[in-house]
Formats: sequence, C-alpha cells, structure tokens
Amino acid sequence: MALFSKRVGLLGTENAFKIGPKIRALEDQGKKVIKCNLGEPDFPVPGFIKDEVKRQIDLDNTHYCDPQGILPLRQAVARHFSETRGIAADPRRVVVFPGAKPPIGLCQIAYCEPGDEVIYPSPGYPIYESFITYVGAKPVPVHLKEDNGFTLSGSEIAAAITPRTRMIFINFPSNPTGGVASKEQLAEIAEVIRRKCRKDVRVYSDEVYEHILFDGSRHASIASCPGMDETTILVGGASKSFSWTGGRIGWAMFPTTAEAEVFRNLNINYFSCVAPYNQEGARLGIESALFAEENRRMIDAFQARRDLVVQGLRRIAGIRCQMPKGAFYVFPNVSAVCESLGIIEAYRRLPAEVRTLTTPSTLLQMFLLFEYQVATMDRKSFGRIGCEHFHFLRLSIATDVGSLALAVSRIGEAARDAAGFTRFLEKGENLY
Ligand SMILES: Cc1ncc(COP(=O)(O)O)c(C=O)c1O
Repeated sequence: MALFSKRVGLLGTENAFKIGPKIRALEDQGKKVIKCNLGEPDFPVPGFIKDEVKRQIDLDNTHYCDPQGILPLRQAVARHFSETRGIAADPRRVVVFPGAKPPIGLCQIAYCEPGDEVIYPSPGYPIYESFITYVGAKPVPVHLKEDNGFTLSGSEIAAAITPRTRMIFINFPSNPTGGVASKEQLAEIAEVIRRKCRKDVRVYSDEVYEHILFDGSRHASIASCPGMDETTILVGGASKSFSWTGGRIGWAMFPTTAEAEVFRNLNINYFSCVAPYNQEGARLGIESALFAEENRRMIDAFQARRDLVVQGLRRIAGIRCQMPKGAFYVFPNVSAVCESLGIIEAYRRLPAEVRTLTTPSTLLQMFLLFEYQVATMDRKSFGRIGCEHFHFLRLSIATDVGSLALAVSRIGEAARDAAGFTRFLEKGENLY
C-alpha cells in the first residue's frame, strides 16, 4: 500500500516558494542574490493598519470568531464592491479566507465533479492549474498572447468553452504578466460567457491586484458587466493591496447566500476562522481614507521601477518586453536569448527524463540564478501544459531600484555569455 493517496500526487505547487532553498544555499556560500522572484510588495504594512491590529490584540480580540468572517469586514468588503463595481453587493454573500489563495482550491472542490472542465489563463497564477488535476477536473488553459498585452479576447474564451465547462478563472491585473483587460474586452468576454454558458457555470474573477494599476488607469471588473454578478465569484485580499502577505486575509463574494453558506462550512471544516485582529486591520485598510495616500506611494514606486526594468530589458539584444499595466511583474520574451545561448538546442539534446522536468526558460532561469545570482521565475511556473513552446521569464519588481538596475545589467551580460551557459550545462547540476 502506498503511503500517500494518488490524489495528493496530482497536486502542483507554487515555485515562488520552492526556489527559496536554492537561493539560501547560494547565500550560504557568500553570494548575494538579487531576488526578482518574490510575489510580495517590499513595503511595510501601513502604520494605521499595524496600530489597529495591535489595538485589537490588546482588546483581547484573539479568540475564535465567525467562520464566514467578522461582519464588519464583510460589510466593508461589500461596500467597497458596491462602490467600485457598481453592483448590489451583500455582506451575507462575502466569505473571508486566510488569504486569496484558499478560495481557488475550495471553489474547485465545491463546484467541480471529475471530468468537468476548468478554463484558466496560461501563463497564470499557478494554483489555478495545480488544483484542477487534484480535484479530477480537466484543465483547459487559454494561452494568453504577448501581442495582445496578455489580455483575453471574447473569441479566445469562446473557443475554450464546451458543455462540460464548470468554472472560468480570469485574473486582471495579471500575475505573472501585468496584463490588464480593458472594459471593452471584459464586456466582450462577459457577452460570450452569457451566451455560451449555463447559469451554473462560475466565473472566478481574481482581482487581488485591483489597487496596483499604472499610468493613471482605473480598475475594471467583469462583475460590473450586465448580469455577471449573478455568476461571478469576486475575489480580493490584503496581501497585495496592503503589502500584508503575512496577515493572511482574503475575501470572496459569491453569487448567492446559499453558496456563501457552503464556503462558511468549508471554512469550519478546514480552519474554523481567520485571526479576528487581522480581519479588523483589513477592515480598516478598506475603510480608511489614509489608504489612498499609502497606495499612491506604492504605485509611484512600482511604476518608476517598471519603466526602468522594461526599458533596460528592451535594450538587451534578444529580449522583447511588453509594458505591464498593473501588478508588479515584468514578463519578457527570452526566445531569442534561449536560441543564441544554445539553450534550445541543449534542451533538445537532454535525456528524455530530464527534459520532462525542465524547459528552455527553466535552463535560462537556473543559469541566471547560479552563474549571475539573479533570481527570476520560468514560464513553467505559471502553467505547465504546453509551456515548453513558450520562452518567458517573470521578474518581480518588488525590490529596490539599485538592485533592479543591477539585475538588468547582469541579465544583459548573461544574454551574451554562450560559453558560460555551455560550462553551466556541462556541470549537469541545477537544470530544473
Ligand atoms: C493572482 C493571485 N491570486 C491570489 C494570490 C494569493 O494571494 P494571498 O493568498 O497571499 O492573498 C496571489 C499571490 O501571489 C496572486 O498572484
């Protein structure tokens, strides 16, 4: 008898967490790694939120609380959704989770039967795909196109929908591309979904980066399109908005109170409730007028870094780079670098068992990490199906300007170092 169930072997992962030990091993050898791999803002939690959390702990607000989430936070979320999405939101339909990650898997557990199809963006946040196989559903990736700015058209979503479609994940602003769909594109996607999908197909709109938008643009949500709040699960959280990944607060508003009840019960079964003092901190973050100023500072910093990194990468021969419109990632196309360094050819010659574990962009990611001490994420970390044909890296810009400038300069050097790549490959280590 095997120790673990077959099911657990089907679960994928988030490589952003897995790469940490490799970086630490290099640091233990005295090497300084520039960390462009991190998916968390590098700013402190705003002071007014910290003060509220401390105050709540001093008030002994440290016990079990409503498994659905404390009412004041659910009310604040519902008010925020009503005001910003123009929909009739309701705190009874809001459920609080320990981060915006858990509802991804819990929704698939709650809505999908084996064989149901789940549509999701690729490249996309890895947990969408990771859970699909775990629940026995069928992954249907929609491969986002670079020349569309990694957005999504109505025809692309139409081609993916079948009578077995059960859930559709969308994520704007996007991790890992920084792509942002326009209002018009969202309207087109919504029209296709309304026309082609039954009313019980759920759209999961992951809007955790709603507050990180560049060039003065405003957030648009598919939930605002006519009729879509009846089928959309609208998701947000504190990790990115309040630079508070350790607070573990996320929220989702479901189409009906009956659905919210199901998730309340899932919460009871999995973790009982979410720390009430942190929920109060998140409530204040949503409600306080002080947030706008903190948010402005964060966006200005990210936008300046984005410009620096994109311009720098575009100067490197063999790199093409879209200008992200939101989130804090840059997603360059490194196909020509993979070609000129001999990576594509080297990948083809790898033994079949190694080739299944790596991709050309993984080899470039490892070359950059081990030989140039720049930590990035490969394309395969954002959707494995069909990924070997696409050669991209994700660079997080959640690190200081000086480090980012150095990272770009090291990537430029590495992109010209074919001999260095051959030597790296000959070592036969760290190929995935
Ligand atoms: C698109 C997207 N959704 C959800 C999450 C989960 O965030 P958290 O669980 O920290 O709230 C992340 C984190 O990187 C993300 O990028």
